[in-house]
Amino acid sequence: MGLPGFAQTGAGLSIRAAGAGRGILAGCAVSVRALRSDAAYKKLLEEQVGIVVAENEFKFGPLRPSPTTFFFDDADYLAAFAEANGMKLRGHNFVWHRQLPKWFDGYVTPTNAEQVLVSHIEAVGGRYAGKIHSWDVVNEAIQVSDGLPDGFRDSPWQKVLGGTGAVPRYIEVAFRTARRVDPKALLVYNDYGVEGEDEGSAKKRAAVMELLRAMQRQKIPLDALGVQSHISAVNKDGRVPVYGPGLMAMIAEVRKMGLKVLVTEMDVNDRYVAAEVGARDLAVAQMYGSYLGTVLQDRAVIAVLTWGITDKYTWLNGEDSRADGTAERPLPFDAALQPTAAFTAEVRALDGAPARD
Ligand code: XIL
Repeated sequence: MGLPGFAQTGAGLSIRAAGAGRGILAGCAVSVRALRSDAAYKKLLEEQVGIVVAENEFKFGPLRPSPTTFFFDDADYLAAFAEANGMKLRGHNFVWHRQLPKWFDGYVTPTNAEQVLVSHIEAVGGRYAGKIHSWDVVNEAIQVSDGLPDGFRDSPWQKVLGGTGAVPRYIEVAFRTARRVDPKALLVYNDYGVEGEDEGSAKKRAAVMELLRAMQRQKIPLDALGVQSHISAVNKDGRVPVYGPGLMAMIAEVRKMGLKVLVTEMDVNDRYVAAEVGARDLAVAQMYGSYLGTVLQDRAVIAVLTWGITDKYTWLNGEDSRADGTAERPLPFDAALQPTAAFTAEVRALDGAPARD
């Protein structure tokens, strides 16, 4: 779209090159089903990205049809694609409260939970060892509203292998096992809802920082914080949300602890932008520009991945969340795989970032 201030030159520009110019890895989450079936999508990824992560295919449920079997076809397919194209590959994830297999409840008990977790990480982490840039070892372990001490989420893993320590047992086991089986991968704690200036975000940031500090005190291996960055162009109240001071203070603290930061799942929903497409794209692009322009100022931030690359396959399509019934436009390429103003904004933010060493 030829929007004012976001002239689209298109040809030759890529987020991979823009990031590489500053020592930042830039890429996206990939749908392996689309990668297998949609040649234009595959070509777009080849042109644009330097780092990929499976949107679903490395998760526990998709990988584990039964307690004794593994399904690696789709994960292997993405790993081979990344390798063939010289792209870095992220692992997402070993531990999450969602997308667990149906057999989890009933099979996994306090007695066997540690063995189930360790053997999963040994098998999956071991299979891709040496090929993974970074693993989201634990995803979304904080949920302050669940009411547990220290803000931990009352998740299936917490129930069977949590305990009451400052670091739940399942988190310790997951990180220690991940380091053992893939010593080259950066080990990441990944979470959402830490980006905003609202009270909920502030509380969640505090709880996440407590967890990271407790992990360091206990010498549990940890290399980075993943900030998912599912953010909004406009809030429900019609206002443009502020992302900045609280998040930047958190990133600075994380840096001072000797850890890196990754923007792992960025998209900008335009759910509450009640306007025509051009204005929606402009609001989304402005948010890409201001969010990344802010976050990338800190050199601890080493990677930016969007959660998908084209609106054709965004996970937000399933939500039917816009009042006018149209699909959301949260990603740098639209449903026709054409760059939007958000693409230009992302490239510019990468270009404008201070160089990493
Ligand atoms: C989402 C996928 O995009 C969907 O396809 C799936 O149905 C549910 O999970 N935070 C995460 C991701 O860490 O794994 C989620 O991915 C999006 C929110």
